[in-house]
Amino acid sequence: MKNKRLYQLAWEATSAELVAEPNTELPRSRAFGGSRRDGRLTLSNRPAILAFVHETHPSHALPARFGKYTLLSKIAEGGMAEIFLAVEDTPHTGRRFVIIKRIHPTRADDPDYQDFFLSEGRISIRCAHPNIPQVYELDRIGGIYYLAMEVIRGHTLLEFVRCCHIREEPATVSSLVCVGLGVAAALEHAHSLTDVDGCPLGVIHRDVSPQNILIDDSGTVKLIDFGVARSSVQEHRTRTGVVKGKFSYLAPELLEAKRPPDARVDVFATGVVLYEALTGKPLFRGSSDKKTLANIRAAPIRDLRSLREDIPRGVARVIHTALERDPERRHASASELLQALDDAAADAGLRASRLALRDEVRAVCGDHTPPEAYLAQHGHIPEPIPGLSPALAARDPQLAYFLRQAGAHGEPQSAP
Ligand SMILES: Nc1ncnc2c1ncn2[C@@H]1O[C@H](COP(=O)(O)OP(=O)(O)O)[C@@H](O)[C@H]1O
Ligand SMILES: [Mg+2]
Repeated sequence: MKNKRLYQLAWEATSAELVAEPNTELPRSRAFGGSRRDGRLTLSNRPAILAFVHETHPSHALPARFGKYTLLSKIAEGGMAEIFLAVEDTPHTGRRFVIIKRIHPTRADDPDYQDFFLSEGRISIRCAHPNIPQVYELDRIGGIYYLAMEVIRGHTLLEFVRCCHIREEPATVSSLVCVGLGVAAALEHAHSLTDVDGCPLGVIHRDVSPQNILIDDSGTVKLIDFGVARSSVQEHRTRTGVVKGKFSYLAPELLEAKRPPDARVDVFATGVVLYEALTGKPLFRGSSDKKTLANIRAAPIRDLRSLREDIPRGVARVIHTALERDPERRHASASELLQALDDAAADAGLRASRLALRDEVRAVCGDHTPPEAYLAQHGHIPEPIPGLSPALAARDPQLAYFLRQAGAHGEPQSAP
């Protein structure tokens, strides 16, 4: 809490006149050259404050140092996390691009957010599957948890479907079946994760949606964002019955909270994603969340083939089975969905090929912006704005200690 207050102060201090409000509690304010006069606290060590702000608020000034990473640009910002394109530079690995997903600094101290973030990290770091991005690291810098992961070079399914819509040409059935197979395979893997003793972790993704499905430039489908994923083992330790994930893709049983959800909620969400991508229209989304939830419970689901004749009967049947409101009537697992979709595609003579998907996405969406474009634009990877320099640290051990306390340089250490 103290650190949070200090964050705000340091943050304000760079834009304001380095003057804090009267009676502000500023722990160890001497580190920032704090002095009180006439009830006002003045912070005079501007370099120290700037160093601190740049260390802890990199989005304020990019490129910025974040531990061994240089954050280059912000790709996305959700309620819980920020996603950056970054460069990792170590003497052994050399430079490589990575994606850094870290808890929003303003939420860094919130135990609920930390809990969700750590859950995402622990699940995704255990995944080793071609349809899930590789997570390199789950750690904490400056008190902020982060994930470092593989950069997926490509487009989201949402972008792909939107580009098709703009062109008034729906995506081909075979490409979308290929997407469905990739998502089902990723889910099959995640659902079957076990701990070191071989006990199932009972992972559920809970946020299968077009934003969380990427298609890379080789046509490989990647399921991302285990941000609200839970393992059933954890579920018992946290609040139950909390509805997470995007409303339009929620399975009906999640709205009832009669019994703990299982992996079949992901089967349902995959059904919604495929139905929408094939028809180019929302399935349950209404004009308000309330209407969306009512639609999920009861709105009739039109036969896919009445909306699009070129969908083979068997493929349509598989998707409708995934969309059964009663989980007992759905595919019992992502594995079953995967098998059923694969069989239906084969029976219909559909070639759900990765290369065809790659070519179609490229033709419809154009080339994506690769990380190297950053270099082309800037000419080089810029030096990050320096944090606390060793010289400053040597001159001001009190400040060095304080910055470590505040987490800017790893975990707290003993006072000098
Ligand atoms: N590994 C990655 N490679 C490339 N882009 C990514 C990667 N991870 C996330 N993104 C981009 O960032 C967006 C948000 O990431 P996500 O993990 O879904 O965060 P949130 O929890 O905020 O939804 C994605 O929709 C995607 O565009
Ligand atoms: Mg997401």
